Amino acid sequence: MRTKLLLAPYQLDGISLGNRIVMAPMTRARVPAPAFAPTATTAEYYAQRASAGLIVSEGIAVSSQARGYCNTPGLYNFEQEIAWKQVTDAVHRQGGRIFAQLWHCGRISHVSVHADGAAPVGAGATCAESKTLGCDRETGQSVVVACSPPRALAADEVERTRDEFARAAGRAMAANFDGVEIHAADGYLLDQFRCPFLNHRLDRYGGNLENRCRLLLETSAAVAAVTGAARVGVRLSPLGIANDMRFDPEPEATYGYIARELGRQGVVYLHLNDQDGSWIHHAHDPLLLGIRRAFSQTLILCGGFDAERAEAALRAGTGDLIAFGRLYVSNPDLAERLGGGLALAPYDPKTFYRDGTSGYVDYPPAGPMPARPTASG
Ligand SMILES: Cc1cc2nc3c(=O)[nH]c(=O)nc-3n(C[C@H](O)[C@H](O)[C@H](O)COP(=O)(O)O)c2cc1C
Repeated sequence: MRTKLLLAPYQLDGISLGNRIVMAPMTRARVPAPAFAPTATTAEYYAQRASAGLIVSEGIAVSSQARGYCNTPGLYNFEQEIAWKQVTDAVHRQGGRIFAQLWHCGRISHVSVHADGAAPVGAGATCAESKTLGCDRETGQSVVVACSPPRALAADEVERTRDEFARAAGRAMAANFDGVEIHAADGYLLDQFRCPFLNHRLDRYGGNLENRCRLLLETSAAVAAVTGAARVGVRLSPLGIANDMRFDPEPEATYGYIARELGRQGVVYLHLNDQDGSWIHHAHDPLLLGIRRAFSQTLILCGGFDAERAEAALRAGTGDLIAFGRLYVSNPDLAERLGGGLALAPYDPKTFYRDGTSGYVDYPPAGPMPARPTASG
């Protein structure tokens, strides 16, 4: 399999990427309480994967309230900002690029992940019929639990949430991230606001399409005001049903509108996640083509890609960069392996979210291990 296009360099609005391979954002639930600040092992994990053209970090909570899973990191205080800098430094030393994925889980959360035991928040008060990773208070380990009932955010709290994204973006830039990705996919808070079946708000953040997308668009504008639009990407999951979502009844209208408005704001990329890896591989898919037409900047495609499918999508021009998730768990040197046609190591889903280094930093590269990053740089 030739991977000519996948390995070609790419200019992401002034950021030089060594290839068109993106490491997709992946929560690994290994960032412990009470600081929720990344550790030297986090830095090692990302540095091992720095030959991707671009890394998108795991979801990073923009506030304590935004947290939805046990042992996941934040970027809402100085300690976390400093700790993330050791991660970005380690990636940059290996010649990589890294964006921070800014995350608010909304109703996909559990009282046990909040130090004060507070209820999750959402566009409304409808509880998600799905699971998350709560914290076992005795052991500090994650346990699968049903989501807790949320309370609806008041209008002034919605605005505060938008501002928390902007503040976290400022911290991300101070921590030397190359940019930020706003997580508006997969049934989390910004996606919950978009959803017509969930968002029955009567204020300017609910009702028609414009109102339901207002929080996302105000958030991206507020973040861009801090970082510059050329440093903001947005992740969407059209047709996604994970985390107790339902199919958008008018996906072409909804995502066409979002893509057009984000294009107007000049955000640097849209990152599309196809949760079941179906439509995104079809060069003539009307939803994909509609988004492509509506948004002239960079499009990242994700969901079930291998070398062959990635090359086909780049050849067809449906996307500019291709993101790989699970393959990056077990193949830290995925770019080299795809480039050299080398065998891929299988991943073990049992270690996706398990604490400790096993299944995290112990997947060897096909060649020699890169030097371990040191805390001092
Ligand atoms: C362990 C794991 C954790 C994930 N965490 C996140 C996350 O924090 N943010 C996000 O947007 N997507 C997350 N995803 C979804 C991936 O980014 C990606 O969309 C998905 O794995 C499909 O791509 P793949 O078929 O290449 O694995 C996660 C996926 C996995 C397997």
